[in-house]
Amino acid sequence: MPRILITGSLGQIGTELSEKLREKYGKENIICTDLRAPKNNNCDPFYTLDVLDTVSFEHIISSNDIDWLIHNASILSATGEKDPHLAMRVNFRGFDNAIELARKYNLRIISPSSIAAFGPSTPRVNTPDNTVMRPNTIYGVSKVYVELLGEYYNHKWGTDFRTLRYPGIISYKTPPMHGTTDYAVAIFHEALKNKKYESFLKEDMLLPMMYMPDCLKATIGLLEVDSSRLKQRSFNVSGMSFNPEQISDAIKKYIPEFQISYNPDYRQEIAEGWPNSLDDTAAREQWNWKPEYDLDAMVVDMLGNLSDILDIPFDKK
Ligand code: NAD
Ligand code: SER
Repeated sequence: MPRILITGSLGQIGTELSEKLREKYGKENIICTDLRAPKNNNCDPFYTLDVLDTVSFEHIISSNDIDWLIHNASILSATGEKDPHLAMRVNFRGFDNAIELARKYNLRIISPSSIAAFGPSTPRVNTPDNTVMRPNTIYGVSKVYVELLGEYYNHKWGTDFRTLRYPGIISYKTPPMHGTTDYAVAIFHEALKNKKYESFLKEDMLLPMMYMPDCLKATIGLLEVDSSRLKQRSFNVSGMSFNPEQISDAIKKYIPEFQISYNPDYRQEIAEGWPNSLDDTAAREQWNWKPEYDLDAMVVDMLGNLSDILDIPFDKK
């Protein structure tokens, strides 16, 4: 069994990824860490860790006999534009620490990238893996940095670095709070609670998205594949693409009285620099990636699960 350390493990993705990995590899082999303390002890073994604290980061790795590192600690796009210096510290210096420790302790490392690694001059439709990458957000710049430095460590020292460019991730267990794609989660909460939602993105802002079960499948797929099968280290992964009007229409099939209105804010400008859709042929060919959820399947599953959590009746029909 590999021993796996996760940074930023209390975040939207880390919470569910750590649960899934515990089921697969045993609770004792998944070492969770975050800047914040957990609300319960479901996360044990857990360490409070600031990824900028190199000494503690190294001590946790060396004293827990770690094999694989999942470096999820990051400042996301919306928070990053509000405080670029915070994003520079956590996303650049935090990754420097993670990749250097991966080299020193010979760890396999996954540090997620994002659709934000692309920019306004990137071809936006079916964006390929290798294309123009000139992002105009600090979050996007940090993701290009992760990809290029990780690939350099792989080339120079053989460090087993891997990354995947997640689209916006949609889930019901841990609310996202720091990104531009978060509207696609908030809309479900408001649809169930208030039957209306004011979108901070324009109605036709088409973005690539992915449901959490597919995000976990993609992450574990890339984590487990034998290194010899990888012809590259950074991969697009695609789920579905929709805009606020299309997700609103999909929700209305189940909640006919639901109403959406639009009041775009600074996040609209961030989203305008990102692709509409991704070409993930390399991931499909090199590690058999294939998503399971389309828009309708995701919407019905989200509404069903969130209505249970919020204790709001919902008729699946
Ligand atoms: P999140 O914001 O929900 O969680 C990030 C976690 O990092 C938080 O729990 C936070 O407490 C922790 N953190 C912040 N600063 C830290 C520090 N200095 N030291 C240690 N921990 C710190 O993010 P997420 O959605 O779980 O994202 C995980 C990874 O996936 C990130 O690299 C993110 O950029 C990437 N990603 C996410 C999405 C998405 O839609 N959620 C899309 C593309 C890429
Ligand atoms: N979902 C992320 C964000 O909006 C994209 O990486 O910041």
